Amino acid sequence: ARRVFSGIQPTGTPHLGNYLGALVNWTRLQEADATTGELPLNYYSIVDLHAITMPQEPASLRQAKLDVAATLLACGIDPKRSILFEQSRVRCHAELAWIFNCITPVGWLGRMTQWKSKMEKMGGSHAQSLTDESLTSGLKMGLFDYPVLQAADILLYKGTHVPVGQDQMQHLELARNIAALFNKTFEYTFPKPEAIVPPATKRVMSLRDPASKMSKSDPSDYSRLNLVDSPDVIRSKIAKATTDGIRGVSYDPVERPGVSNLLGIYAAMRDIDVHEAVKECSDITSTKAFKDRVTESIIARLQPIQSELFRLQADKGYLVCVLDDGALRADQAAKDTMEQVYKAVGLR
Ligand code: TYM
Repeated sequence: ARRVFSGIQPTGTPHLGNYLGALVNWTRLQEADATTGELPLNYYSIVDLHAITMPQEPASLRQAKLDVAATLLACGIDPKRSILFEQSRVRCHAELAWIFNCITPVGWLGRMTQWKSKMEKMGGSHAQSLTDESLTSGLKMGLFDYPVLQAADILLYKGTHVPVGQDQMQHLELARNIAALFNKTFEYTFPKPEAIVPPATKRVMSLRDPASKMSKSDPSDYSRLNLVDSPDVIRSKIAKATTDGIRGVSYDPVERPGVSNLLGIYAAMRDIDVHEAVKECSDITSTKAFKDRVTESIIARLQPIQSELFRLQADKGYLVCVLDDGALRADQAAKDTMEQVYKAVGLR
């Protein structure tokens, strides 16, 4: 049977990139398999241990976890069909990460582009990071090791499918390599997990700079659409979004990255493909008219999600209940895998 695992960090509120790159597939994967009728087993985790690889204020971290839980439920995660839980409630994540640490070559992590780009932002290279203390004081071991914990997340549940956006592909490749290395070093234990990425929205771009991806860490809130943004905020963010001076609407991510990003968003909001979206917009000549249409599609799609989100945020008792239940169920599955791992390694 299919076992699905994915995670989201509780840092800031989820944005349209998270939704279109990952969360839409999270909800789709709750459906029974079209050919076999089998129900998949879904594990969806709020990865707080990953969040603390960067400094977090304890009270806001606690609150962010509840907000993310409410958002996931509002987007359609059904706690009857999916196990929704906080990563740190299942201690085996950290335990398995430690065991993987003891077989994973340091070089595999030094190649990770997310690490390299963080290093470069601090003004250094990976080689320096291991020796230069002025650089490393700002970057912690946990951040370097982040992808190993991510591999442990997936493999702890023997995950076979991992719905993610494009930016996680390299981390997923590492998880596959760690699975193979463990199986070869000890005994066959882990399947090789496969990524599931949405073809058209695997990389939703920043509204301000369509050359970089929409991200929670971008200092400008105008670069992203948060799932909680009000219609007025959505209107003004799309109105200010970077486009170009070319007349009409066409899809060309290289020459017209801003317009193409908005077209991708518009298509996804209406569950149609990009070419249909281009057709629908063929009568449009002004940028303003195009942006108005995109804006209305976003508002219409987010409205029911937001009303459900605000309802859930007011019901903390329910959220805590869902997360308690999820933690219990995840913990049982995780312990079974860990027993096997401890035996295979010779710790039992
Ligand atoms: P995170 O919290 O950064 O993002 C959650 C999901 O959203 C996707 N995503 C995007 N997709 C398309 N366009 C974008 N602009 C965009 N921005 C974000 C991400 O690809 C991700 O799927 N390391 C992970 C969390 C994690 C995880 C895991 C994921 C921890 N353990 C195990 C899968 C399996 C992360 O930081 O995601």
